[in-house]
Amino acid sequence: MIICVTLLTLYSFMKSQSEGLKLFGPETSLTAVAGQDLVLPCFIKPNISAVDMTVKWLRLKDAASLVHLYKDHENRIENQAQSYRGRTSLDIKELQKGNASLKLSALRVSDEGRYKCLLEDKFWYDDITVQIIVEARGGHPVITLESYDNSGGINLVCESRGWNPEPKVLWLDRERSPLPAKDTQIHRDAEGFSVKCCIIVYDHSNSNRFYCRLLQQHHMIEAEVIISRNIFNVWKWVVGISITAGLIGLGIILMGVIYHKKVSKLQKQTLKADFIRKKRFSVDVTLDPDTAYPRLRVSANEKAVTYEDIEQENLSDTPQRYTYYPCVLGKQRFFSGRFYYEVEVRGKTEWTLGVVRENIYRKEWIPWKPLNGFWLVELRNENRYRALDDHVVRLTLREKVEKVGVFVDYEEGLVSFYDVNTSSHIYSFTDQSFSIIKLCPFFCPRYNDNGKNAAPLIITALSE
Ligand SMILES: *[C@@H]1O[C@H](CO)[C@@H](O)[C@H](O)[C@H]1NC(C)=O
Ligand SMILES: *[C@@H]1O[C@H](CO)[C@@H](O)[C@H](O)[C@H]1NC(C)=O
Ligand SMILES: *[C@@H]1O[C@H](CO)[C@@H](O)[C@H](O)[C@H]1NC(C)=O
Repeated sequence: MIICVTLLTLYSFMKSQSEGLKLFGPETSLTAVAGQDLVLPCFIKPNISAVDMTVKWLRLKDAASLVHLYKDHENRIENQAQSYRGRTSLDIKELQKGNASLKLSALRVSDEGRYKCLLEDKFWYDDITVQIIVEARGGHPVITLESYDNSGGINLVCESRGWNPEPKVLWLDRERSPLPAKDTQIHRDAEGFSVKCCIIVYDHSNSNRFYCRLLQQHHMIEAEVIISRNIFNVWKWVVGISITAGLIGLGIILMGVIYHKKVSKLQKQTLKADFIRKKRFSVDVTLDPDTAYPRLRVSANEKAVTYEDIEQENLSDTPQRYTYYPCVLGKQRFFSGRFYYEVEVRGKTEWTLGVVRENIYRKEWIPWKPLNGFWLVELRNENRYRALDDHVVRLTLREKVEKVGVFVDYEEGLVSFYDVNTSSHIYSFTDQSFSIIKLCPFFCPRYNDNGKNAAPLIITALSE
């Protein structure tokens, strides 16, 4: 009887003691770095000992799996999920204070997810959920010079594996300003995300230094690549030869360079011969002062044009006059056959040259590109040569151009530019459809730039 009463009292005591109990865990998800250890908090409040209870830690995935079990005063590993073997521990001293936190060591990306901490005895039961995020810092990025691009650039690929969560990938130039990537691929596997980011880079003259940066909230890692100008220059001679298959890896790249060096000599000779043939189509071109921007001065022989800081006097604003940009048109019109002329650009820091559709609008800005009737190549900021194709193409030229040769084959739809001094090809617009339009030579000496760009554009007699 006494025993019975005692038991009952004890029972109700324990029951009442259990009533105000509650389990607590972290309020937000926990973030830790792969490879490190992490404590998943779970404790009873008010604090009473939990040594006599059953403590269960479960991983909540498709089917819950057992991460850790403490029962009948011992840790039981019989049914523990394989991937957690040897990586979990409960501190018994802490358990006496109601702290059932689980220590998980050597975190893996695959540990990321939701866990349940569950405590029970005969009279009481509660559980909480703990969410963990495992950040993995991926491997150092590897940069591959993959292949040459038809536009005269080089395809670079940056790769890195083992990231979690997904990192941001950026290509940067030498000033660490972002460059537009051509393509970014991201895949997920057991070790996290792997990324691959491609870009086409061009010769930037002084320092061809590029960075690939991978960014996470608390982590950043960069790889650097420096490309010798020679690598770009080799390409200059082989524009037109299509590069077969992507050349992967530095070893293959080097083989490729040697191969192209051999090819380039041959190619150079054929280009030269080709260029000399084009000179046979030389025509006499003169400037049309009536189309000249008001601050342009056309020489008396109509062969040279300079930008002056004051407007010419007694000018009429006729429809044919260029008033938006410092440009002037040639007097000649071409609507069949082939023609060639040369323009001296010596001493200039900026110029734009080429041919345009006869009836282009001259009073306001429209994008200069083939679609709008402009087939132009230009120099900007002393060393930036560009072809104004449907997308601007940066050109990598070995030497400063002093004289530009412009060749047009109307029926072929071809507009080619040459460096006359070195007899080398600069750029070609191919497969253009001129059909019924009349083409007209176009000259922009551009602005004076405080005298820096004061030199004239001169249509020269054919040089031999
Ligand atoms: C609970 O125990 C863990 C070790 O298992 C310890 O790191 C943590 O600080 C303890 N929490 C509290 C609230 O005492
Ligand atoms: C448990 O509570 C007692 C008194 O309320 C306190 O002295 C002790 O530090 C607490 N222990 C833990 C682990 O919070
Ligand atoms: C261009 O050719 C002239 C004469 O052939 C030469 O004196 C000059 O150095 C050349 N310039 C360049 C940039 O190659």
